[in-house]
Amino acid sequence: MDDLLNRSRSFARLGRKEIRRLPLGGLGTPLEPLAGASDYLRLPNLLIKRDDLTGLAGGGNKVRKLEFFLGEHLEPQHDTLVTVGAIQSNHARQTAAAAARCGLRSVLVLEDRRPDSHDPNYEGSGNILLNRLLGPEIIRTDTAGHATALDQVLTRLRNEGRNPLFIPSGASTPSGSLGYIHCAAEMWFQASALGLSIENVVTANGSAGTQAGLIAGFRLLGKDVKVWGISHGEPSNKRGKVKTLLNDIEAFLGVDLAVSEEEILSVGDYVDGGYGVPGDATRQAMQIIAKADGIILDPVYTGKSFAGLCGLVKKGAMSRGEVTVFLHTGGTPGLFAYANHPAFNS
Ligand SMILES: Cc1ncc(COP(=O)(O)O)c(C=O)c1O
Repeated sequence: MDDLLNRSRSFARLGRKEIRRLPLGGLGTPLEPLAGASDYLRLPNLLIKRDDLTGLAGGGNKVRKLEFFLGEHLEPQHDTLVTVGAIQSNHARQTAAAAARCGLRSVLVLEDRRPDSHDPNYEGSGNILLNRLLGPEIIRTDTAGHATALDQVLTRLRNEGRNPLFIPSGASTPSGSLGYIHCAAEMWFQASALGLSIENVVTANGSAGTQAGLIAGFRLLGKDVKVWGISHGEPSNKRGKVKTLLNDIEAFLGVDLAVSEEEILSVGDYVDGGYGVPGDATRQAMQIIAKADGIILDPVYTGKSFAGLCGLVKKGAMSRGEVTVFLHTGGTPGLFAYANHPAFNS
């Protein structure tokens, strides 16, 4: 691992900070026209940024964040990555894959947010199936016991003489958010090469790192881009969470982003049944883009964020001439956990 760390450390400077990145495969995903959905929505300049193709064990947005989180925090003495998430967490699966890539062990503390569901696919397919291949230790808890279970794992590992690195939920820390500061620049220059100036980006928002990173990235580039964060669970208004992370990013980089809380676009109308529940709007949005463009979304995050994009267009929140990017944040492996769900069987 020392070799990997040495090769990867220095990436660039931003503000007062030297940025360090550990390459896992996350940079340089395609930005493509979304022709079928453009016609359907009568939104001629609709593009998709394919962060489902970030290239590590099923892809997704956490690969970018982990590259910068680990670049900043991983030291040669660490031997185990520990993180948290829901049973079907994409972040946890990508963390297990990152650990494998770095020759480390991993422990995932997974919270059962749907204790009433005993669907064998939800319990054993999707991300859980991939985890069985990637080899993390998995600790399952209910919501009430989650924080205690995490403390106990970290204490146990230290008592065993191991040296764990804890990665907070979604790697949504200032260093993790650098992944989406970088992504903002990447997609801006990709669009410029197509002769387009991005006016809107629509993304799922869970732990806020993707939305906050994009907002910070466009600010640092001096570009006026609206970043719409679509919530997929409660609390549906994530404005405060995004603002807190933006403040932390400012302190980390030593920059002034000058973003007020009121400017943050947090959209809570597409939670559609709650976390992990695909309601009608989610299923319809997934079918629209699948049939029109052959793109597969997931029922937990991207199905809801694309439902949000469709809803915003219909409401006239973004005008039809504007250049809009739908960020596909991944999650497709989680779809297979829903094979028996009534939403996909009628
Ligand atoms: C597929 C997918 N999209 C979006 C998100 C939300 O990203 P963030 O936590 O950075 O807000 C997640 C987070 O868990 C995810 O797995």
